[in-house]
Amino acid sequence: MRILSGIQPSGSLHLGNYFGMMKRMVDYQKNNELFCFLVNYHALTSVFDAAFLRRQTYEAACDFLALGLDPNKSVFYIQSDVPEVTELTWLLSNVTGMGLLERNHSYKDKVAKGIPASHGLFSYPVLMAADILMYGADKVPVGKDQKQHLEIARDIAFRFNSTYGETFVVPEPDIEDDLAVVPGIDGQKMSKSYGNAIEIFSDEKTLKKKVMSIKTDSTPVDQPKPVEGNPLYDIYALFLDARGKAELKERLLTPGLKYGDLKKEIFGVIWDYFEPFRNERKKLSEDRGFVVDTMKKGASKARQVASVYLEKARHNVGLDYWNE
Ligand code: ADP
Ligand code: TRP
Repeated sequence: MRILSGIQPSGSLHLGNYFGMMKRMVDYQKNNELFCFLVNYHALTSVFDAAFLRRQTYEAACDFLALGLDPNKSVFYIQSDVPEVTELTWLLSNVTGMGLLERNHSYKDKVAKGIPASHGLFSYPVLMAADILMYGADKVPVGKDQKQHLEIARDIAFRFNSTYGETFVVPEPDIEDDLAVVPGIDGQKMSKSYGNAIEIFSDEKTLKKKVMSIKTDSTPVDQPKPVEGNPLYDIYALFLDARGKAELKERLLTPGLKYGDLKKEIFGVIWDYFEPFRNERKKLSEDRGFVVDTMKKGASKARQVASVYLEKARHNVGLDYWNE
C-alpha cells in the first residue's frame, strides 16, 4: 500500500506531531511504500522569516531521520524540491468549488489566531490535495485536525476524475481515534503555533520546565483526581500500554496523589523515551552534507512518481496541444 503524509516545518516538532503522525509513519515503513515530506510551501502561509524557515526545515529533516525514518526504504523529501506540485495545484484549482474552501474550518481558525488571511492560506487545501494526488497515495496518516483537509482532497480527486476521466487515486484518511488530539500544556490542542507545545528534542531543563507547567485543576491532594480531560493523563497515556493506562487511572482516582510528583514522573518518562533518538539527532545535526544530500536524493525519487501523474493530468485537461 502507498502511504503518504507531510508536516509543516513551521516550528519545532512536538509530542502531538510525533504521536499523531511521525511515529505512525516510521512504523508503517516496515511493510509499505512510504512517502514522507516537509511542506515548506505550506509553511509560507504563516512563516515570513526566510532564515527561520530554512533552519526549521533542516531541523525537521534531522528530527525525522533521527526518529527512524529510513531514506533507503522510504521516499523522504522537501516539498519545494518537487516544484511541479504547484502546477498540479493550478490544475486542481479549476475543479475546486469556492464553497468547498469557504467551509474549511482550519482557514477560519488560523485567521482567528492571527495568521494573515491571504489567498495562499485560503487555497492551502488545494496544494495539500496536489501533494497527495501527485503520488497516487492510498492512505494518509494524520491527526484528527486534518480530517476536513482530507475530505477536501477526496472531493477534488472525485471532481477531477469525473470531469476529465479517471486520473487520480482517491485517498483514504488514516486517523487513530485513540490518539486523536494530544493536548498542550494549557490543555488545548498541542500546536507549534500556540506556544503550548512539548518539543521532542528540547534540552533537559526546558523539557522539565514545560512538563512542570502543564495546567492542572485545583482538586485537593486528598481527593480523587479527574481522568477525563486531564492533560496529565492524556500526555502520560501516550507512553503507556493498556495495563499502564488502567494503573494510571487507578492512581488518579485514589486520593493522595500529588500533581507535582506525577509531573516529575512524566518528565522522566518523556526524557528516557527519546534518549536513543537524541544521540542520533546530535550526530545528524552536525552532518549537514549528509542530510542535504539525503533530501535531494529523496526529491529525485519523488519526482519520478510525481511526473507520471502530472503528465497524465496535463494530457487529460488538454495542455498537450501538440497532440491535437
Ligand atoms: P501544528 O499544529 O503543530 O502546526 P501540523 O498542523 O503541522 O501541526 O500537523 C502535523 C501533523 O501532526 C498532522 O498530521 C497533525 O494532524 C498532527 N498533529 C499536530 N498536532 C497534533 C496534536 N496536538 N495531536 C495529534 N496530532 C497532531
Ligand atoms: N496540512 C498538513 C498539516 O498541517 C500538512 C500537509 C500538507 C499534509 N500536505 C499534506 C499532510 C499531505 C498529509 C498529506 O499537518
